[in-house]
Amino acid sequence: MVKYVVKKGDKYWPSAEMKKIAWVSDEKIYAKALKNPVKFWEGLADEGIDWDKKWDVGYEEKLPYFKWFKGGKLNFSYNCLDRHLDERGDKIALTFVPEPVGEKVVKLTYKELHEKVCKFANVLQGLGVKKGDVVSIYLPMVPEAVIAMLACTRIGAIHSVVFSAFAVDALKKRIEDGKAKVLITADGYYRRGKKVVLIDKAIEGSKGTTIKKILVVNRIGKKVSGRKFLDFNKELEKADAECKAVSMKSEDPMFILYTSGTTGKPKGVIHDTGGYAVQAYWTAKWDFNLHDDDVMWCTADVGWITGHTYVFYGPLLNGSSTLIYEGSPDFPDTSRWWKIIEKNKVTAFYTAPTAIRMFMRNPEKMIKGCDLSSLRVLGSVGEPIDNDAWNWYFEKVGGGRCPIIDTWWQTETGGTLITALPGIGPFIPTVAGKSFPGVDHIIVDHKGKEKKKGELGFLVQKSPFAPGMLHGVYKNHKKYVETYWRFKKYYDTSDGAILNKEGFIRITGRTDDVMKVAGHRLATAELEDSINGHKKVNECAVVPIPHEVKGQVPVAFVVLSSGSGNDGGEALKKDIIMHVDKTLGPTARPAMIYYVKDLPKTRSGKIMRRILKSLLAKEEPKGLMTLVNPSSVEEIKGIVESSVGKEKGNVKKKVVKDKKKVVESKK
Ligand code: WTA
Repeated sequence: MVKYVVKKGDKYWPSAEMKKIAWVSDEKIYAKALKNPVKFWEGLADEGIDWDKKWDVGYEEKLPYFKWFKGGKLNFSYNCLDRHLDERGDKIALTFVPEPVGEKVVKLTYKELHEKVCKFANVLQGLGVKKGDVVSIYLPMVPEAVIAMLACTRIGAIHSVVFSAFAVDALKKRIEDGKAKVLITADGYYRRGKKVVLIDKAIEGSKGTTIKKILVVNRIGKKVSGRKFLDFNKELEKADAECKAVSMKSEDPMFILYTSGTTGKPKGVIHDTGGYAVQAYWTAKWDFNLHDDDVMWCTADVGWITGHTYVFYGPLLNGSSTLIYEGSPDFPDTSRWWKIIEKNKVTAFYTAPTAIRMFMRNPEKMIKGCDLSSLRVLGSVGEPIDNDAWNWYFEKVGGGRCPIIDTWWQTETGGTLITALPGIGPFIPTVAGKSFPGVDHIIVDHKGKEKKKGELGFLVQKSPFAPGMLHGVYKNHKKYVETYWRFKKYYDTSDGAILNKEGFIRITGRTDDVMKVAGHRLATAELEDSINGHKKVNECAVVPIPHEVKGQVPVAFVVLSSGSGNDGGEALKKDIIMHVDKTLGPTARPAMIYYVKDLPKTRSGKIMRRILKSLLAKEEPKGLMTLVNPSSVEEIKGIVESSVGKEKGNVKKKVVKDKKKVVESKK
């Protein structure tokens, strides 16, 4: 079996075999790219993407905005599909593994995917969708997701994908913001052996909005009737197979994806066409070392940025084969993922630490019997990966043969930005690595002054900003400036990090009020808004605590409204959780709810979540002098202490042991 890594000293490095097959194996590329990043990216844009018209200006910056490949024209779906047809028309572009074990796996060649995309683009045009219109997509992991997304890009419509586990209110807010006329959804999907209905939420969420037509993928055989509804595949079959790809400006928006920030309302992050294409193409190629014989499986859901860039777009731009799986990792048992890798000879596998930690708790025999020798590169994303999870992933999944690339990035960055490259290394647990060639990150203090090596600070990006970066917040300039540009000339990532002595970056986690729950991004304010919306709640505060599997989980401190008493009991807790399910979705469920009489507040009324965090961590809270109601702290301390051990999976020391806390907080 080929070994792609070797151990030298205390680190893993690419082996000679890996160096031989790696697209990039010379570390000089970093220095070379940084000498003139614009020229470097222009070279990559030229080589990796087919342009209808070459750009006039490589990079133009008028902060806080910037443009890549200005004057250039291209079509994104052409780059994912048409340009591969001559050479790879019959190659499998997409493999769909349904959750029900006996159900036939669907494989689409580039030719077939191209035809479906063209037909569906004609369906959209027939419904009046034009260049620049927003189309809402609320789909589970089915092939129609990428067909719909690429069809939008073919005609210049802007797609806005909403995670299928999000609740009615979340869908509604996103539809309203984008003013979409068409919603693409499914009747449902399979999850843990059961049919989950999606269409009811879709109907409810689109009520009273701009949506005129709903295209429904028939997945679970649920009947949907009414003039508003169209059957996705029946319409597609009827449509013409010819559809000209509309030539778009490089800086034209291609999609919006909503993500959580520090306030209750998610932001619509805008990505352009040309810059995004360049970064998606090259990061997918170099990070996962994609060649023609590669099969990539990224386990992310299409509702998140990882699902956009590394499930579909990166692999397809590269003419690779990508795989999607509909269901749960533990259905019918925890060998499911490993059997999928074995059966489909997956070579590049990309997942989140939370999934690894879930598998670590399961009997080893579930993975032992599976042949994972096809794997070459393993990726991790979404949250810091701790030592134990890294080692388990490396040994049990990678057989000690494969590099793990720990990729740091964000919805806002479009593609990965900090990682080790498989042909360069080194691969070190809990250390992400270096900025991707042509990109530069530094660590600064709260004034924007660069920190010394080894010191913890804020991770920021320097100009020129990477081509895949966001181009604003949809219809909200103010939010864009406030959220990302407090350092003026640097892009603020909102993450804490340390640049170690050897020049590698270690990410320590968010410095704002954003949590990563099972890799999913969630703002404490979003959850607070939801809980505050419950009729028996007066106010609340949400803080994250470490969790053995999910990384972090939210804990809520709730003050009940007058007349509801101080303790609503278990029944009310359940009701609050149901309310969160209904407004945000089950991923946001608080793991624990405490009833309290009062929340610690400053004179200006600001809730001091930091104090609540300390109490949960059994640390002595600091800064009590600034509170108007210091007695609240004693009360909460008592409540928290009397409930020790009741929080399921909550770990105080284990997971946090190699995650230094960010000492500086934004506020
Ligand atoms: C966190 C996911 C540590 C980080 C692609 C970031 C990570 C947030 C890593 C963005 C990593 C992502 N190591 N932390 N390798 N990757 N993060 O927008 O806090 O869902 O700011 O994008 O995830 O989450 P988002």
